[in-house]
Amino acid sequence: MESKRKYPSDLSDQEWEQLKAYPPAPKWRGRPRLHSTREILDAVFYVLKSGCQWRMLPREFPPWKTVFHYFRKWRLDGTWERLNRAMRERLRVRLGRDPQPSTGIFDSQSAKTTGVGGEQRGFDGGKKVRGRKRYLLVDTEGLVVEARVHSAKVPDQDGIRRLLEPARSRLGRLSYLWVDAGYRGRGKEWVEQALGLKVEVVNRSPKPTPEKMLRVWAREWFKEGHRMDLKKLPTRPGFEILSRCWVAERTFAWISHNRRMSKDYERLCATSEAFVYAAMSRIMVKRLACVWGFSSGLARGTVSGEASLVGMRGLPLCCRLRPLLGEAKEAKCMLRTRLCELLGIEHPVIQASIGPWSSAELVAAVSNAGGLGSVGTALWAAEHVGEQILRVRELTDRPFAVNHVVRPFNEEAFALTLEAKPKVVSFAMGDPGDLVERAHDASILFMQQVHTVGQARRASEKDVDAIIAQGFEAAGFGSTVSTMSLLPQVVDAVSPIPVVAAGGIANGRGLAEALVLGAQGVNVGTRFLASEEAGIDDEWKRRIVAAESEDTIKVEFADHVFPPPSREGGYGTLPRVLRTPFVEEWNSRREEAEREAERLSNEMITAVREGRGHELVPFTGQTAGMIHEILPAGEITRELVREAEEALRTATRLPR
Ligand SMILES: Cc1cc2nc3c(=O)[nH]c(=O)nc-3n(C[C@H](O)[C@H](O)[C@H](O)COP(=O)(O)O)c2cc1C
Repeated sequence: MESKRKYPSDLSDQEWEQLKAYPPAPKWRGRPRLHSTREILDAVFYVLKSGCQWRMLPREFPPWKTVFHYFRKWRLDGTWERLNRAMRERLRVRLGRDPQPSTGIFDSQSAKTTGVGGEQRGFDGGKKVRGRKRYLLVDTEGLVVEARVHSAKVPDQDGIRRLLEPARSRLGRLSYLWVDAGYRGRGKEWVEQALGLKVEVVNRSPKPTPEKMLRVWAREWFKEGHRMDLKKLPTRPGFEILSRCWVAERTFAWISHNRRMSKDYERLCATSEAFVYAAMSRIMVKRLACVWGFSSGLARGTVSGEASLVGMRGLPLCCRLRPLLGEAKEAKCMLRTRLCELLGIEHPVIQASIGPWSSAELVAAVSNAGGLGSVGTALWAAEHVGEQILRVRELTDRPFAVNHVVRPFNEEAFALTLEAKPKVVSFAMGDPGDLVERAHDASILFMQQVHTVGQARRASEKDVDAIIAQGFEAAGFGSTVSTMSLLPQVVDAVSPIPVVAAGGIANGRGLAEALVLGAQGVNVGTRFLASEEAGIDDEWKRRIVAAESEDTIKVEFADHVFPPPSREGGYGTLPRVLRTPFVEEWNSRREEAEREAERLSNEMITAVREGRGHELVPFTGQTAGMIHEILPAGEITRELVREAEEALRTATRLPR
């Protein structure tokens, strides 16, 4: 239900849902916050929209000093910039575009400063304005990629460099830039040479000869016997729309709809920049909230017998989308579930932990593509786990999970994980016990993997945030029930806890199926194992691509060679691997394997730690049969979503 809104600038519940994952979470130690992040944001947006001074903030909001403290803190730690980036990328994905633009438009706007004073104020001789210039790099939708504010006296040719040089590492796919004639010369040259971008200068159409002059000529020609119809003389156009550059002008107009931006009222240029990002985030969050996409309604199994998809407000999804986006844009709508809101991700796709074979590059690639990457910890020392988490943080600022298992449980690595504060801890192969509470105390979400309905019920009593229901088809440790049978039962048993499907999912059709069965997302292992970033031996990847589903088998003697559960409540599961002589031999000699347990266990663990684990136990699921190429993990993530949308759309075309 929508909370009571005080001012039109306040966030609605739907808008808050869209951005609540992005502002920094309150510290879990220390005095609890008196004012929620949402109240602070509402107050900032009020200042922005109404243009009032901080000290004039109405009393319904938290005290102005508190609001200003957070506004400043988020300016300094880059939260506003990150918020703008996150919203922009999500909106672009929703519009069916790549999250990173390949083409941009650069422009500037001179804004008058006021008596407030402060740094960087100057005179723009061209526009005859004393103040500052706002430089914007926008994408072709007009969404701000980078903003910089400087003295108005800085010529445009230098302004472009001041914005693009520090942003160099964030430009990603950008390869083409449109600018107006003011950037011709050293500005354009610098961009082309230093950044290697192709720059196109958009010129105004040549000015027609002034009307007065034409009349003089017309009179002269008349004297020479030529007749001229004066009404047909071309008149001088007033305002001219510059192709492409109008997109940036429109963005300036959007921003200027906020009274705080009608002039530059700030002492610091950085504050003006923060307000630009805040203004754009506010616009984008409004658009994102307009269409919710797939919500819990769908995931809770409200696909009706008529195969129409039902969304958040109980309206058929297509009915809600059509008036807003039109048929064409409906086709580009993205899948979003309650799990996405919970984890702060774009797509309901989790890269499942691949234990000791985990690589930071794989985790970051999936998180950067809008899914959730998972750092594996099994068999690794706490020190190595810490290094992996640090490396992931270097490669992405998006949410990711850290996985822990009970065979064996590494207390030191778990404690270190809690300190590192990833968004999520996932746990597998045994009852979570007190680990849920410990994670929650550290403000970390807890996701529990289960293999039976009973395990799911017990986990739900522990207050876990999400449950992974893993079927028999999966790589690694699993039980005897298939995902298709297990998943809907777990969904019903633990409602309303979101359930994630694992096992047997390697493409978009699998994701679509899981959503229809009531899951909120998928946990995908084998498909990501055969990705470019997975840190496993190439031979193993090639074997996955060549394998049929029946080439994977269960390791029947696992209990004798894998580390036993080192906490109470281990689940009785066996791992699935690709056939190897080692597994085939000892599967047929299980009693001897029990006698040789110590030797075999040492042999296996040493092989894994030395990077030869795949020679003995190459963990792989039955989906190997549907994996035909090794792809970048980001592409796998996006393709899963694209294909699922397609599959769901096809399903809804069923005749009534
Ligand atoms: C190489 C490999 C290692 C794995 N290690 C772990 C692990 O350490 N912890 C865990 O919870 N699951 C582990 N799994 C299981 C996956 O996390 C995931 O649940 C499973 O692969 C999903 O099934 P799928 O392979 O059919 O996609 C592993 C899977 C693979 C392929």
